[in-house]
Amino acid sequence: MKKLNVRLVQMLIFSIFLVSAAGCGQEKSHSSKTIRVGVVKYIEQDDYINALTDCLRDNFAKKEKTSQMHIVVTVKNGGGKQAIQDRVVEEMIDAGCDILCVDLVDRTAPTKIINMARRNDIPVVFFNRELVREDLMQWEKLYYVGGDAAVSGVMQGEMAADHIVLKNSKKKGKGKYDPKVDRNRDGRIQYVVLEGETGHQDAILRTDEAVGTLTAKGIKLDKVSYEIADWSKDQARNKMTQLIAQKKNEIELVLANNDAMALGAREAYEKSGLSKEDYPQIYGIDGLKEGLAAVASGKIQGTVYNDKEGQAGAIAQLALALIEKRELRDFSLKDGRYLFLPYQKVDREEAVKREH
Ligand code: GAL
Repeated sequence: MKKLNVRLVQMLIFSIFLVSAAGCGQEKSHSSKTIRVGVVKYIEQDDYINALTDCLRDNFAKKEKTSQMHIVVTVKNGGGKQAIQDRVVEEMIDAGCDILCVDLVDRTAPTKIINMARRNDIPVVFFNRELVREDLMQWEKLYYVGGDAAVSGVMQGEMAADHIVLKNSKKKGKGKYDPKVDRNRDGRIQYVVLEGETGHQDAILRTDEAVGTLTAKGIKLDKVSYEIADWSKDQARNKMTQLIAQKKNEIELVLANNDAMALGAREAYEKSGLSKEDYPQIYGIDGLKEGLAAVASGKIQGTVYNDKEGQAGAIAQLALALIEKRELRDFSLKDGRYLFLPYQKVDREEAVKREH
């Protein structure tokens, strides 16, 4: 009797293990109406990606309410290493995923994931980190959803230019810039770029386009430094603190590839002991809650809204259409495979509006 009880307990533990190890297959019912969606982020902690993933869950939950489908969404991450992400994807496929949504760790190394998906005939919607075109074209069931990164850089540059150049001023040369921005009144803007991540398309394009837009508008720039801060507030705060120690109040403009880094820069100034008049103009991108609040209160001067709701909606709709093998005619796909969602400028007035 005792032996039988031990056996029963062992079986129970084993079945609990099977269910929790199943990933995509957490839902046990194999009715034809159950859909298993595997979402694999590049890393666990990234504010923007986490907010986007929450929107994605909401989209699938709404769809579930209004349809006969049972949609099981499993979200995992690649721990910042492509090899780990490849393994996670493999586990999800083994557990019976119907569709994969993947934010690649290394956007130049999707081959393993593509090959596994193809062997098992599971469509993949890549998002946020854009893979190389040749890779996306390797198989007809691969898609990409993201923002148009170059546009976000242009918008950031335009907002900064609007604040730098004095309105309705006939002055030329040194006097044409707002003295609150060109604080040393040398007719040039000393600037820093806080960059997201080496090799990330959003980082490269945002930097190039923001700086290029300012230059194209005739604004004279002096580069103080470009710092990589991996999209992170902490890293940006540290890098900025070091720069302030070296350059004191010399920096007049900070262009950050995202809001987290813009906010880190602002915190570095708040801790620096410099007076507020000596703070630079700071711009970010993303428009998450904290970023919008910082623009609304004037802590940073602008952000560009990275439409997480739009991107999540597009990923969810595309994923469902692919599972149901529907025509994709309604999706205005670029080159049949890409969906780019627009960005939006958020200055102080717009941020205040969005807060209410
Ligand atoms: C960008 C976003 C950043 C970061 C990055 C991760 O689009 O602006 O905040 O989340 O994606 O790949």
